[in-house]
Amino acid sequence: MFTAGCSVPRVFAKFSFPRLHLSSIHRNSMRGLTVDALNPAILNVQYAVRGELAIKAEEYRVQLKSGEPHDLPFTKVISSNIGNPQQAGLDQPPITFNRQIAALMEWPPLAELARDAFPEDAIARAKELQSEIGSIGAYSHSQGVPFIRKNVARFIEERDGYPSNPNHVFLTTGASAGVTLLISMLIANPKSGILIPIPQYPLYTATLAAHKGVGIPYHLNEEADWATSTPDIEAAIRKAVEQDGIVPKALVIINPGNPTGSLLDEATMRQVVRLCERHDLVLLADEVYQANLHARDTHPFTSFKKVVRALGSSVPLVSFHSISKGVTGECGRRGGYFECANISEDIIALMYKMVSIGLCPPLAGQVGVDCMVRPPRPGDASYALWKAETDATHAALAQRTKTMAARLNALPGVSCVDSPGALYLFPRVRLSAAAIEAARKLGKQPDTLYALELLDDTGICVVPGSGFGQKDGQYHYRLTCLCPGVEEYVGALERFHRKFVERYGGV
Ligand SMILES: Cc1ncc(COP(=O)(O)O)c(C=O)c1O
Repeated sequence: MFTAGCSVPRVFAKFSFPRLHLSSIHRNSMRGLTVDALNPAILNVQYAVRGELAIKAEEYRVQLKSGEPHDLPFTKVISSNIGNPQQAGLDQPPITFNRQIAALMEWPPLAELARDAFPEDAIARAKELQSEIGSIGAYSHSQGVPFIRKNVARFIEERDGYPSNPNHVFLTTGASAGVTLLISMLIANPKSGILIPIPQYPLYTATLAAHKGVGIPYHLNEEADWATSTPDIEAAIRKAVEQDGIVPKALVIINPGNPTGSLLDEATMRQVVRLCERHDLVLLADEVYQANLHARDTHPFTSFKKVVRALGSSVPLVSFHSISKGVTGECGRRGGYFECANISEDIIALMYKMVSIGLCPPLAGQVGVDCMVRPPRPGDASYALWKAETDATHAALAQRTKTMAARLNALPGVSCVDSPGALYLFPRVRLSAAAIEAARKLGKQPDTLYALELLDDTGICVVPGSGFGQKDGQYHYRLTCLCPGVEEYVGALERFHRKFVERYGGV
């Protein structure tokens, strides 16, 4: 199972991913350190979320901030390209309780010096953490503070109703670090492949490229609200094995989805687990958006851990979670965890060896994980405020998602699945032959042209669908539902779209 292979992700060649611009790099700028002399896998890495659009948006932001006269037709740049809730302009307020704990952990004397600023449960919680951790300026256990791992395991048990072993929980520097570790361990020879949903969050293809792994794409079904289809995964496996001689090692599921916002139902999850059993695959369940649900009653989240245990399955499962998303939104603290189920102790020991090279995840992130898995409970002094803050963030996200999807769907040539989860919408835009030709002349993907003109016209930065993968001849873009002032924001999107259609013609 964990004896894998390694190769370049050629299987992805038919999908459109923008390339890094290397022209600005001086190929022979330093003796001995030239681009040509580097690990070639690095040159294959592409990461659209922070690519061309984000770079240009940053230039505009600097230009606007400089106060110099400019001829930009907007007064601010809106970062709709990245799910970074607390970023300036998106301004999701941090949860007060979490920040109180963070402050007290940073400087314990605050508990006495500013006693009135902290509710008693926050002071008690911080003291408990201090006695378990000591100074947060010290390295911790490489797998994460044992006390916090126990709290994570309890959170998982309460969520799923099945036991969780704290020794099989790894605290990480965000979910990204856990994903990278798993991919690095699974890709061991040029034939190892990992099944990746299309569209996908580019962490997966980028990390696979860096580790010379093969991505095996399987398409999500846009017509069925971006559903995951096990027959389509089977077909992707057959093609990879029979035509390309690849050995599939693992299946990535992102649930709720990024960029699609889709949510798996339990029947599909059971089929996915059975498929992993049939094909001897490790299931990598990216569940970082598990708390971002816009219609909990009709679209609840179920973890893969629960489904695997309910089925009595022995499929090896690694589930990822993060403090970056949900209503916590603490991306910059870099906290997350993964839990291993049905994974042998010798593999866990190897994971431990690998994480210990990095010494430990940031303590601020570990404390953030503790706050996420141990929020205030009814009866605690902090509960009322915590509830009000988290309810407000959930409600704002749900309302923006609904408004944006409805308004986008009303535009000519645009269709948008109204997502039940995560932080994004992924509208499809039908582009005319003239728009496609204009993009070709510029050497750009058509949806990149659309996104660049949107940025130039409105200051709104989105990510072209080609950065996530999409079917040939289809064009999308991803935008976050995190921007306040949704009326103004969607109004600008609408005006731009109509102008674009006037300029290039509609479909
Ligand atoms: C699906 C998915 N997985 C993982 C991550 C990485 O999150 P983290 O900040 O925890 O590394 C993201 C970030 O946007 C994501 O969208």
